[in-house]
Amino acid sequence: MKIQSDILVIGSGIAGLSFAIKAAELLPDKKITIITKNTKEESNTKYAQGGIATVYDLTKDSYEAHIKDTLIAGDGLCDKEVVRMVITQATKRLDELLNWGVSFDKNQDGEFDLGKEGGHSKNRIFHYKDVTGYEIERSLLKIVSQKRNIDFYDYHYAIDLITEHQVFGDLISLDSDKTVFGAYVFDEKTKEIKTFTAQYTLLATGGSGQVYETTTNPFVATGDGIGMAYRAKARLADMEFIQFHPTALYNPGESPAFLISEAVRGFGAYLRNNKGERFMKKYDERMELAPRDIVARAIDTEMKLHGSKYVYLDVTHLDYNAFVKHFPNITKKCESLNIDIKKDYIPVAPAAHYMMGGIVVDKNARTSIKNLFASGEVSRTGLHGANRLASNSLLEALVFSHNAAMDIAKHFDTNYKLPPVPGWIDTSTDRTMEKILITHDRNEVKTIMSNYVGIVRSNERLLRALRRLYVLYQDNKRLYDHSEITTDLLELRNLITTAYLIIEFSRKRKENKGGFYSIDFS
Ligand code: FAD
Ligand code: SIN
Repeated sequence: MKIQSDILVIGSGIAGLSFAIKAAELLPDKKITIITKNTKEESNTKYAQGGIATVYDLTKDSYEAHIKDTLIAGDGLCDKEVVRMVITQATKRLDELLNWGVSFDKNQDGEFDLGKEGGHSKNRIFHYKDVTGYEIERSLLKIVSQKRNIDFYDYHYAIDLITEHQVFGDLISLDSDKTVFGAYVFDEKTKEIKTFTAQYTLLATGGSGQVYETTTNPFVATGDGIGMAYRAKARLADMEFIQFHPTALYNPGESPAFLISEAVRGFGAYLRNNKGERFMKKYDERMELAPRDIVARAIDTEMKLHGSKYVYLDVTHLDYNAFVKHFPNITKKCESLNIDIKKDYIPVAPAAHYMMGGIVVDKNARTSIKNLFASGEVSRTGLHGANRLASNSLLEALVFSHNAAMDIAKHFDTNYKLPPVPGWIDTSTDRTMEKILITHDRNEVKTIMSNYVGIVRSNERLLRALRRLYVLYQDNKRLYDHSEITTDLLELRNLITTAYLIIEFSRKRKENKGGFYSIDFS
């Protein structure tokens, strides 16, 4: 089946949805199609807790301060122009969210109740309790459902981008300029592979936390956009920089790991080791509110020093009622595990959380492939450098999706003619594979990455990871070439590709920066 539209959006988190709304408004007579691989709301966005960093009241905060905090966290590798562009646009983008019906908490005086997180010199995090992402996803989906020129396909999994390679065959791909014409998409319900074509395609497929054993990211975060872009030969960068969130709840067997928001430390919580000591003073004068890479490494060191699997977050000294008001979901979760936050410490450990690298884009979210845009966690904009400042991610997605929509509206070619895009060529022999093999392989990728490509790396560990991953790559290729397509198989292919890229980019880095740390360069 062929489905033609003007703009194809892959992914329904904050990047995909905010882009689609904007594009639908700017181009009311054009058809926008969103596809997403699971339910409409499933995404990293849905689980965002802390909120959105925005300078709103210039009498209390300043763009310069937010810019400085972002640059410090990024450890010297941010693109300064991009940082300035994003941070000075934040107020407008936040106003738009308010217009779209997103609620943010206010205090008794009717002013926005701004939270604080690691690396921020001011309280500037707009939040809705501790479920900000859920509130954003809810509101954006409602607006999308009201747009007559947006079609939405859930349980539709993008397999690969369509470029000249699929249209004209191998010979033409010697030409270095490529154009995207849409994507081949697996309909999970009918098992059909459909051809979605469009003049423009936006990749908004989010992150890849699922390459690690312990992650805050939901099961859909399997690096699919990275895999698709890599196979289409788009430019990628900074893949070695993985952010580990310092404080995921330690609850063996729970996957994904439940996050204890950094805003809890911003609210005054202490970190303690298993002897009850506040250890952060040994590592950074900013203590619990140092940037995330520093806190996560400090926790990792303490855990190794004391042979423990977690450290503690202590909120016992905080105003309980005020805490429950700001963090009702976290309180509920702790209660469900019989952790009485009035007297018990909360066990926490670092977990893979965010991918700083990704598809290289310019300020308008254009990739190196013509007509292909990327926004959100899948992209590498230059905002985060080697380490993302807390709560800058939702903001980044809003700004780049806005810029992409403006750019596309400006350049939209009404005389555009699609080339003759062929349907998907099925080379499988219809051999059904044992699902358990895929589960084993997925677990192996996670083990390799967690054991050898985690918070602390070394050349030796990376080489081991590469060798072991290669075996999985070969097995997956055999399965992929001959078996019937399933979502599990497709995800495994992208997990292996993403893991490979994290390892290879890590092997090329010869200096410790932000989210990359190797004992060979310490
Ligand atoms: P996502 O929201 O992950 O959306 C990706 C979409 O693409 C999903 O709909 C997914 O199903 C779909 N998709 C993926 N692959 C395919 C495919 N092959 N075919 C079709 N569809 C596909 N950031 C902040 O700034 N502030 C916070 O407070 C914050 N808290 C966080 C808390 C948690 C627990 C987590 C996990 C992250 C948090 N982050 C936070 C990070 C932030 O949530 C993400 O970086 C951001 O939401 C990414 O948005 P996105 O639209 O790029 O991707
Ligand atoms: C958190 O609430 O700690 C997550 C914030 C973020 O990832 O930016």
